[in-house]
Amino acid sequence: MNLLSVSDDHNAGDRAVTIKNLDLTYITTVEKKPTFRQALTRTGRKTREVRALEGVNLEIPYGSVLGVIGSNGAGKSSLMRVISGIIPPTSGRVEIAGKVSTLLALGVGFNPRLTGRENVILGGLAAGLNRAEIEQQFEEIAAFAEIGDAIDSPMKTYSSGMYSRLAFAVSVVVEPDILIIDEALSTGDAKFKKKCLERIKSLRSHNRTIIIVSHALATINDICNDVLWLNQGKIMMRGEPGAVIAAYKESLHVAASPSADEDV
Ligand SMILES: Nc1ncnc2c1ncn2[C@@H]1O[C@H](COP(=O)(O)OP(=O)(O)OP(=O)(O)O)[C@@H](O)[C@H]1O
Ligand SMILES: [Mg+2]
Repeated sequence: MNLLSVSDDHNAGDRAVTIKNLDLTYITTVEKKPTFRQALTRTGRKTREVRALEGVNLEIPYGSVLGVIGSNGAGKSSLMRVISGIIPPTSGRVEIAGKVSTLLALGVGFNPRLTGRENVILGGLAAGLNRAEIEQQFEEIAAFAEIGDAIDSPMKTYSSGMYSRLAFAVSVVVEPDILIIDEALSTGDAKFKKKCLERIKSLRSHNRTIIIVSHALATINDICNDVLWLNQGKIMMRGEPGAVIAAYKESLHVAASPSADEDV
């Protein structure tokens, strides 16, 4: 397997993800002005429900790069967690046709006390590769990440950009059918971001599916062919990137501000 050669296992238009009537409610405990005694005895607690996703229906075909946008707390990360199977939906159905690789919050799945090399091997094993396959790919992963000798240092000594470089290298080496990226590109420098975007375009041209959550609207506009706007757990709009991004910006009343689509 070579990072640059991706096989075509899917036909464009085949369905990668199907979501029907999805609801997700988080239940957390909160205390209303607890007294010291209540805090000790754990009385006076109430449960609070947060409806993170409500009535979401979505079909994502192979061969598409779907951008997911929306305000903080809109439910974007929650939707990614449900699609990747990290949390079950409260109700509704999620059907996935293929192998999902996720690049969610930075460092998920990495053990900071282990070196980059050790984490790559563990990550590969978790993704179902055998040790021989991983060793064969290791040099390629390290070359893609371009972090030099740091590959043999504990990951707790890494900068956040180094962290995401290695995470991205691992997530693409397993040749996912569906790649989910939640804000993980924002810490990479310009050169690495460019390399990641090229890799994303290559996956797309081989009929893989990529879902990218980002507040960097210019990047979304540049690489996505389809955009979903979430607002308070519901789909506000979905379709052609320019139109959806314009409507989202309009809703923020920042359409005239050039900083709104500046990439971070
Ligand atoms: N583990 C959790 N427990 C309870 N509530 C949660 C949990 N995770 C998220 N929420 C709540 O669910 C809602 C959606 O959060 P989510 O993280 O999906 O938003 P987001 O669109 O990814 O936001 P951001 O742009 O800030 O990353 C928010 O109201 C949030 O407070
Ligand atoms: Mg989020």
